[in-house]
Parts: sequence; C-alpha cells; structure tokens
Amino acid sequence: MKKVLVLYYSQSGQLKRVLDRLTEPIRESGDIEVTYYQIQLEQDFSFPWEKEAFFNAFPESFKQIPQTVLSPPDEILNTRYDLIILGYQVWYLSPSIPINSFLKSAYAQTIFRDTPVVTVSGSRNMWVMAQEKVKGLLKEVKGSLVGNIALVDRHINLVSVITIVDWMFSGKQRKVWGFLPKAGISEEEIQNSDRFGVIIKDYLSKDKYLDMQRDLVSLGAVEVRHFLVSMDKKANRIFKVWSTLIYNSRNRKTLLKIFNYYLFIAIWLVSPIVHIIHLLLYPFNYRRIKKDEKYFQGID
Ligand SMILES: Cc1cc2nc3c(=O)[nH]c(=O)nc-3n(C[C@H](O)[C@H](O)[C@H](O)COP(=O)(O)O)c2cc1C
Repeated sequence: MKKVLVLYYSQSGQLKRVLDRLTEPIRESGDIEVTYYQIQLEQDFSFPWEKEAFFNAFPESFKQIPQTVLSPPDEILNTRYDLIILGYQVWYLSPSIPINSFLKSAYAQTIFRDTPVVTVSGSRNMWVMAQEKVKGLLKEVKGSLVGNIALVDRHINLVSVITIVDWMFSGKQRKVWGFLPKAGISEEEIQNSDRFGVIIKDYLSKDKYLDMQRDLVSLGAVEVRHFLVSMDKKANRIFKVWSTLIYNSRNRKTLLKIFNYYLFIAIWLVSPIVHIIHLLLYPFNYRRIKKDEKYFQGID
C-alpha cells in the first residue's frame, strides 16, 4: 500500500479545504493511505490578525528566521512516504513562518529525505519568489520537487488587496462594502481541485513523475501573471533592505509603522504607475516575459 503525507499549515482553513478536495481521488482509490499533519508552532500566530502582529511578522517572515516547531508524532517520523503533499501559504513574498520553520527543522530532514514532493500553495497572488525559496528549502532537506499547484485569488490585484486585508483582520470572507468579491481562492476553484488529485494519483501509481507538472499546468494548476512576477522580484529587493533595517533594531516598533505607510504608498501609488510602464514596455520585454512564464510554471 502506498503512503502519502499531507503536510500543511492553514490559519483560516482555506488551504485545508483545498487539500481535502485535492486528495479526494487519492483517498478514495482504496490502495493509498493518506495521513494529514498540520504543522504546529510552539507559539502560534493568532487569527484573525491584530494590525501590529501582522506587520510584526514581516522581518522574520522575509528573512526566513525559523521559530520552534512542535514534533510530529513518532508514527510520522518513522514512516517512509511515497509522496509528500506540502500545503503552504505566502507571508511577505516568502513561505509563511510555520512552513519555513518546519522545513528548517530536524524533523524535515527525516521526513523529506529522498521523497517526491508536490507543493500546493494558497496565496493572494504573489507566490512565484516564495516558491523559489521553498525550492531552496526542499533541496536542503533532500526532498525532490515533482509538482507544483499555485492557487490564488484571481480577482484584480488591487481589489484582492482590499478584500484580503478585511479577511485577515476580521477573520470573515465577506463582500467588502457589499459589492467587492469575497477574498481568497474561489469556491469553484476549491471544488475543482480534485482534478489535480486524479493526475497525482495516476503518476503516484507509476512512481514516475516525468511530465506530471506539464499535465497539472494544462489543467490550470499554475497561472503566471507577468506584472505580478515583475512586482514580486522588485519587492523582494526592496523588502531585503527593509527587513535588514527592522530586524533586531531597537526602533522596531517605529520602523514597522513607517514600513506600514511605505507599503500603503507602494501599493496604491507606485504599483499602478509601474503597471502602466510595464504594459508600455511589454513588447520590448516579450521574450523575457515568456521565458519567465515557462520557468515559473515548471518545477526546475
Ligand atoms: C502576514 C501575511 C502576509 C501575507 N503576504 C502575502 C504575500 O506576500 N503574497 C500573497 O500572495 N499572499 C500573502 N498573504 C496571504 C496568504 O498567502 C494566504 O492566502 C492567506 O493568509 C490565507 O491562508 P491560510 O490558509 O493560512 O488561511 C499574506 C497573509 C498574511 C497573514
């Protein structure tokens, strides 16, 4: 009997719902044992978020500073899995602190070694550079990335900024101002994610994953929006400066407040201008954009 570990973290439960639906064909096949484990931090983050805590998570998220994680049960540590499905979310363009902390722990060295891994992310929409960081972390624990599914909020970028802030601070996925769409991955997309499970199950039964990513992408597993890729890369360079400035600073509270204002201006003033410039330059950057698109849809 094949064994699959679904390793994940989710505050709102959104990602758990995606994983439940995605693994349905695998669980129902009858000859695959599926075990779930939710990563636990010694000191977890509260949900919904307080504003101060939300910004306070920035330096450690971006700098990928690990926190103490609780040990998974011995049963998980002592089992060799045929496949690990890793469900993660993005915090500040990086894997969330619980995910980063687990991947940097000794438990990950035991669980992931020489094991195929499918990553499943559920984020707002800026995930490409976080996935690069996850790739690096998986390499360190000798896991072998064989597939990636990146589910996002597909609404207009600035609309999803408003709705996710409301969701994170209220804990409710609701229609902001009565007319904006609900934040997060759409219900339809969550329900349809079992189609990815069918593909994963087929490749798992053959124990060969060549071409699996191509098949997942053909079913819409990864949408790469070129403007967001460009923003993600730029913001990573800027966040590096901010996080270095804030981390360990005696003026952390004040600097985080300034960072908060900076983010507001960057999102609402700078990013629309950059977007227009990006569109004007699109024909000139076409080749690079297409190359990026192919790269981020892949798993290399
Ligand atoms: C502190 C924090 C920072 C976030 N930063 C990003 C980000 O940089 N890019 C992104 O696409 N989503 C970002 N998100 C949204 C999350 O990736 C995710 O969609 C949301 O938190 C729901 O995940 P859950 O399954 O843990 O409830 C952020 C969320 C939080 C709480």
